[in-house]
Amino acid sequence: MNITIKRSKREVSRAAADHIAALVRKKPDAVLGLATGFTPLETYRELIRKHSEGLDFSHIVTFNLDEYIGYGMDLSLPYSKDQSYARFMHEEFFRHINIHRSNIHIPNGQADDPEEECLRYERRIRKAGGIDLQLLGIGRTGHWAFNEPGTPLDSRTHIQTLSETTLDDNHRLFFYKSGLEREMMPKRSITMGVGTILEARSLLMIATGKRKASVTAAALEGEISSLVTASAIRLFKGPATVLLDRGAASALQKQ
Ligand code: F6R
Repeated sequence: MNITIKRSKREVSRAAADHIAALVRKKPDAVLGLATGFTPLETYRELIRKHSEGLDFSHIVTFNLDEYIGYGMDLSLPYSKDQSYARFMHEEFFRHINIHRSNIHIPNGQADDPEEECLRYERRIRKAGGIDLQLLGIGRTGHWAFNEPGTPLDSRTHIQTLSETTLDDNHRLFFYKSGLEREMMPKRSITMGVGTILEARSLLMIATGKRKASVTAAALEGEISSLVTASAIRLFKGPATVLLDRGAASALQKQ
């Protein structure tokens, strides 16, 4: 695991975009695992800028980490104006680059049978040949994707009930451009499991801001435990890059 501490969120985002762009250039049909949230927003903006300078996504395949149950969509249909992660990804990234719609995968939180949707998502990842690079954030509960405390480290894509902390943190993003109340947030999601994430060929984890400091230290230096699912990064066998700004790194023992 390679941990780099950058001076600012801006530098973390630039370095993350450089890392992803290097793979896109080296392997134009790479399979990218993507994350939503506030942390990767600037990384996506930087990738969009690189696209305007010629970075080609036309053969890139993507798999997002998670989606809220009751939201999301069948991606063969037009994008809806709901509060889904599908819409977030479309507005913040996909519509600005030349990715093919059929190469985008996000769990469908509106599937009739969410359990079957989880199995289908795992099958689709396998069929695509696995994920070359998985981008990850970390939640204040130590979660990777929506793998809240207590989720087994060998879990597969599953239905996950969200903690109150995660609902508190995510409602600003969920109500992104809507003005709805926190009480209306969906409390369940479909998420890739920790075991699913650990099967990617490489990992890129980013964290910024002081509010992530203690959980980042717990994940990188505390006990490897299902109570902090991001601590599974230390079980990962392949190359794992961690990019932190000074705030997120401020509780690490080793700096
Ligand atoms: C998003 C995801 C989550 C976020 C985490 C941090 O797809 O899977 O694990 O990475 O909740 O979110 P932000 O970046 O908003 O602090």
